[in-house]
Amino acid sequence: MRREGIEVADTKTSAVDVVTEADRAVEALIRSRITALRPDDAILGEEGDDRPGTSGVRWVVDPIDGTVNYLYGLPDCAVSIAAEVDGEVVAGAVVAIPTGVEYAAALGNGATRDGRPIAVRPSPPLAERLVLTGFGYQREVREHQAGCVASLLPEVRDIRRMGSCALDLCHVADGSGDAYVEAGPQPWDWSAGGLVLREAGGRFELLDGTFTLGTHAVRNVVVGTPADGWDSFVEALGRAGFLA
Ligand code: IPD
Ligand code: CA
Ligand code: CA
Repeated sequence: MRREGIEVADTKTSAVDVVTEADRAVEALIRSRITALRPDDAILGEEGDDRPGTSGVRWVVDPIDGTVNYLYGLPDCAVSIAAEVDGEVVAGAVVAIPTGVEYAAALGNGATRDGRPIAVRPSPPLAERLVLTGFGYQREVREHQAGCVASLLPEVRDIRRMGSCALDLCHVADGSGDAYVEAGPQPWDWSAGGLVLREAGGRFELLDGTFTLGTHAVRNVVVGTPADGWDSFVEALGRAGFLA
């Protein structure tokens, strides 16, 4: 399929916010499986309507996180699924599409990569941290994000923009990144990866951001680091203009 090229099926918030037939087909498959097994659960999926439920369980689904990478044949793209009970994320899985590498976590039970336990590595000094980040699809959001990242860059080892928030959080969880920050991702981007990071010994939080776009606040700044690196990273994010 990849060799034949992948078509953009539609655009969403801007001309570069694309959706492919695969995004839709994967989400439809996940929804039909969940609905067949658990008809009373709610579903929040990026590509479909919110489905209300009565059980207190809600599934949070990103059928392809890293769609632009998927479109170009780049490796960082994944299926991300989390389960919440009464609003708390209790389980999550992030599966890399090209390789099938599977990150998983259950609340209180640790995190794994292909079934083997993973843990964050101790944080180096701020100047030696490899920071992963991402950008939204709207011009004004990107201008804000770019300004913050430009201020942060001289303070750290380097910045990576790999293209999948869910996998980025898993990279911090298994020690192949030191920290993640992005202003504005949605629950389907971070729910599963955030639990994987927490269960691997990291700290993951949504902090108040500085940026608003019209009436729409890009308030949630998604932040994840090993627990020992949290304070110094958050201070750096404040200096860089990410935080309110
Ligand atoms: C995007 C990716 C990206 C992040 C964006 C997300 P999508 O999700 O997670 O890394 O920077 O904010 O929207 O559109 O590829 O599902
Ligand atoms: Ca996403
Ligand atoms: Ca997506």
